[in-house]
Amino acid sequence: MYFKQIELKNFRNYKDQKVEFDPKLNLILGDNAQGKTNLLESLFIMGLGKSFKTNNDKEMIAFGENIARAKCVVGEKGEPDTEIEIAYSTEGKLIKVNGVKLLRNVDLLENIYVVIFSPEDLKIVKDGPDLRRRFLDRELCQIKPVYYSDLGNYKKVLKQRNTLLRDQNDDIYLFDVFDEALSDYGVRIVEERKKFIERLHGICKQIHSDISSGKEELEIRYETATEDKLQFKTKLRESFKNDILRGYTGFGPHKDFLSIKVNGKDIRVYGSQGQQRTAALSLKLAEIELIKQETGHNAVLLLDDVLSELDTNRQRYLIETMKDVQIFVSATGIEEELQKMLPKGNVYIVDNGKVNLYNR
Ligand SMILES: Nc1ncnc2c1ncn2[C@@H]1O[C@H](COP(=O)(O)OP(=O)(O)O)[C@@H](O)[C@H]1O
Ligand SMILES: [Mg+2]
Repeated sequence: MYFKQIELKNFRNYKDQKVEFDPKLNLILGDNAQGKTNLLESLFIMGLGKSFKTNNDKEMIAFGENIARAKCVVGEKGEPDTEIEIAYSTEGKLIKVNGVKLLRNVDLLENIYVVIFSPEDLKIVKDGPDLRRRFLDRELCQIKPVYYSDLGNYKKVLKQRNTLLRDQNDDIYLFDVFDEALSDYGVRIVEERKKFIERLHGICKQIHSDISSGKEELEIRYETATEDKLQFKTKLRESFKNDILRGYTGFGPHKDFLSIKVNGKDIRVYGSQGQQRTAALSLKLAEIELIKQETGHNAVLLLDDVLSELDTNRQRYLIETMKDVQIFVSATGIEEELQKMLPKGNVYIVDNGKVNLYNR
């Protein structure tokens, strides 16, 4: 799958912009704060219905405006084009696929698959558990619509339970209802995460080994304290008193951990910067491969300001293995050596919310 074009109206710093894309490579150049990331964000939204930068949809609306619109055309070999439109207003957002309003946002997911690699993603490897869980959830949501709804429900119940805890409510019958729902969704989430990480591990281990010429072994593992529904519910009941004191739910998949190791050592603590970058890249490339295996489609890869952070060896590996994938690369500038490695495509200059095609 690939983006053929996008039209933006009052979307972040874009007033009115239409861009047609190359099916292979799109190089987006420009100084800082001109709109490169905003353009990639608009593409990302077409895949997942929400931004990778924020949970607040209103941020998409250009300052001083009431409505923002983004509309794209997606192409796929042997299939008719798909048109996706997302409109944001102060009341919320409306998603249309081929002109038909979606009743459930989850139905957006299968129309295009998007994977972003940004400086934030380097932090998945370097930083703490929250970002890793977010990475895990985002990717799983994309390929498993059931996960998307289970996770949404889990978060909703968790929020309600935490509100009760903060209110010092000790109605155990009421908690029993919440604990039942929480353990129901919770075990499903844990099962899906385990399966996903097992498969992702198989793929990214190989990629990491290839990039490091067989010198490094990457291991990712999902660590959870949740065993089954009954055990989860019992734990919730047991930790109830502590939870009331803390004011939040201290046990469950929202506390689980994604462990990442290189040659048996925690990458956060012992990994060199180079190893961390290789691991982050391996995870992203593995994601694309897994999407392909699960859905039969190629995802689109968005590289926001990260390509120049990789050394020549890693850049070459990325470009060679992603031959069949549409790639968007944003950067303030690009070295000649890298430019030579890249396949033919379009070059754009972004300048203060305007995108201009620039022929190489
Ligand atoms: N809702 C919005 N309305 C108007 N401008 C916005 C909005 N959100 C962000 N911007 C502007 O977009 C610019 C940043 O764009 P960005 O795509 O992050 O730049 P870069 O080219 O460095 O990636 C900033 O100037 C910021 O003020
Ligand atoms: Mg940027």
